[in-house]
Amino acid sequence: MLLLCPFVRSGREGGWAVFHDGENHFLAGGEAMFEVVQNDLLAPNLHRMVVKAPRVATARKAGQFVIVRADREAERIPLTIGDADVSEGTITLFVQAIGASTRKIVEAAAGEVLQDVAGPLGRPTEIENWGRVACVGGGVGTAVLFPLAKALAELGNEVTTIIGGRSEPYIILADELASFSSDLRITTEDGSLGRKGFVTAELADQMGDPERCPQAVFAVGPVPMMRAVVELTRPQGIKTMVSLNPIMIDGTGMCGGCRVLVDGEVKFACVDGPEFDGHQVDFVSLADRLTMYRDVEEKCRIGR
Ligand code: FAD
Ligand code: FES
Ligand code: MG
Repeated sequence: MLLLCPFVRSGREGGWAVFHDGENHFLAGGEAMFEVVQNDLLAPNLHRMVVKAPRVATARKAGQFVIVRADREAERIPLTIGDADVSEGTITLFVQAIGASTRKIVEAAAGEVLQDVAGPLGRPTEIENWGRVACVGGGVGTAVLFPLAKALAELGNEVTTIIGGRSEPYIILADELASFSSDLRITTEDGSLGRKGFVTAELADQMGDPERCPQAVFAVGPVPMMRAVVELTRPQGIKTMVSLNPIMIDGTGMCGGCRVLVDGEVKFACVDGPEFDGHQVDFVSLADRLTMYRDVEEKCRIGR
């Protein structure tokens, strides 16, 4: 039953009356909304947001995502579920504010609400006991990698985690990843933290050492990074999974916006992925599709 106290008015809802019953927020008409419990800046433009979404927290599995709308006028933005706390009924999102809609999402301070958090969506990661695995994350991809690496470690895999970024401030979640990784390696392009260079140099070293060579590799990050990892592991035939981030709209397999070419076949990343065998992914078409609306995005009036 919906209790109409205490009464909360959300500034971003432009005068809409918002109520909560202790668990969820509702618009006056009964529509559920999602309270931001915590919003911290982890790195330049990268926020960790803890959001009340009890049903998603209970149902989600590693590798799945949600589609978020900041308010009624906003775009639908896919974001990986970074973590969940079932007892608190919350999920954790790591949001890199790179455009109008992600900026609008991170503007929601603790105590404010997001209009929609739809999910969990996508296929969960197929977690197996491979023995020794390498988890490789670049930039915000490290946040997407986090639940995956945690689930692999929980199943008994020996996880080496390699994370990279432009410079020290862009290295995120190092302590959290170290808590369950048997080895954590850091690379930065300018050498301000860890090894100077790219994540692939660390992975190549690991692959070259028979005592440390991984049986499987999981890579999440910018398209050029995932492509470089895939080309590195291909000659040795090491199973390499990548998490793809094509443009998504509905997230349920209906619009076709997220189509990717995998082993010559069209797949919809929102329902067939977002994780795929990297050795079968056509990265050229993925990169083309990711940039095809860039001019329109620049001119977009949403959030301005
Ligand atoms: P814009 O300026 O509109 O676009 C910037 C770039 O983002 C575009 O060039 C395009 O490459 C990409 N993009 C734009 N619209 C979309 C869209 N609807 N769907 C996908 N990509 C888009 N980002 C995070 O910060 N944290 C995450 O955990 C995360 N998880 C993701 C999980 C999945 C399954 C996918 C597909 C994407 C994920 N992303 C994540 C990327 C995030 O969705 C985009 O950065 C965001 O949509 C950009 O929107 P914008 O309006 O702020 O930027
Ligand atoms: Fe529409 Fe995948 S987002 S089909
Ligand atoms: Mg946008």
